[in-house]
Amino acid sequence: MSIPTVTLNNGVQMPQIGLGTWPLKDHDAAPVMVTAIEAGYRHIDTAYRYGNQRGVGQGVRDSGIAREELFITSKLDGEFQGQDRAIAGLDECLRQLQMDYVDLLLIHWPLPQRNEYVSTWKTFETLVATGKVRSIGVSNFTPAHLDHLRAETTICPATNQIQLSPRITRPDQVAYGRAHNIVTVSWSPLGQGSDLLSDPTLAAIAQKYGKTAAQVVLRWNIELGLVPIPKSANPVRLTQNLDVFDFGLTPAEVAAITALDTGAETRVDADVVGH
Ligand code: A2P
Repeated sequence: MSIPTVTLNNGVQMPQIGLGTWPLKDHDAAPVMVTAIEAGYRHIDTAYRYGNQRGVGQGVRDSGIAREELFITSKLDGEFQGQDRAIAGLDECLRQLQMDYVDLLLIHWPLPQRNEYVSTWKTFETLVATGKVRSIGVSNFTPAHLDHLRAETTICPATNQIQLSPRITRPDQVAYGRAHNIVTVSWSPLGQGSDLLSDPTLAAIAQKYGKTAAQVVLRWNIELGLVPIPKSANPVRLTQNLDVFDFGLTPAEVAAITALDTGAETRVDADVVGH
């Protein structure tokens, strides 16, 4: 199965669906990686905070795939914010993954009360020249955070990874990304296994195309130019979640799915570390 790519603002290609790995831990991540890579995944999303980078790295090695065939994202949380702490943070990620580089390194949360994301980003900018990271981006940033960051620094983030599903559509953040050539990556695109997937609107569209509700939600992401990173540890669902490139939604269907937004956005600027 061939997965389309999106081009990041530095020219790097990112597969348009990735595998989310939260809440897998080191002990259960490796076999899931092997199954996922065999199913066709070439983009894997992990983070220092998840506690699964050793398992992810092990699974990649067990799969036998060449490293350059994969797009690997990791993230540095608050422990590595401020001054030049991100240098040690990236080295620790690479040590755990047993890799020479990651394709994308993200600031996991803006943590605005600490007011360190600009200095952290300036360190991220220096990491690109080391060859240990191909691209840099952010996660859980609002447009205000991005405005501040862009005004103070040189490299525009390649991506902003945010919680985004038909229940939480974040139109302002998506529009900001489009306007500034920042790819929006959707974490928990399936609503974390909530009742989203039994929504009747999704069921009707799914029936029309002979697809599942999860596939319709992932296709909705593709139609909007987003990059969803659904998590599954189940071999059948892993395969199902990649099989969304042989059908398309009409503009009316895209709009009907977007209209499922409940308006109950979770706060993205809280000084907390979660997903
Ligand atoms: P599982 O790992 O057992 O497949 P999200 O990526 O939005 O956080 O959602 C992840 C949750 O959704 C997990 O509980 C996962 O369970 C479940 N899930 C993943 N893919 C599917 C699918 N195709 N259909 C139904 N549930 C899914």
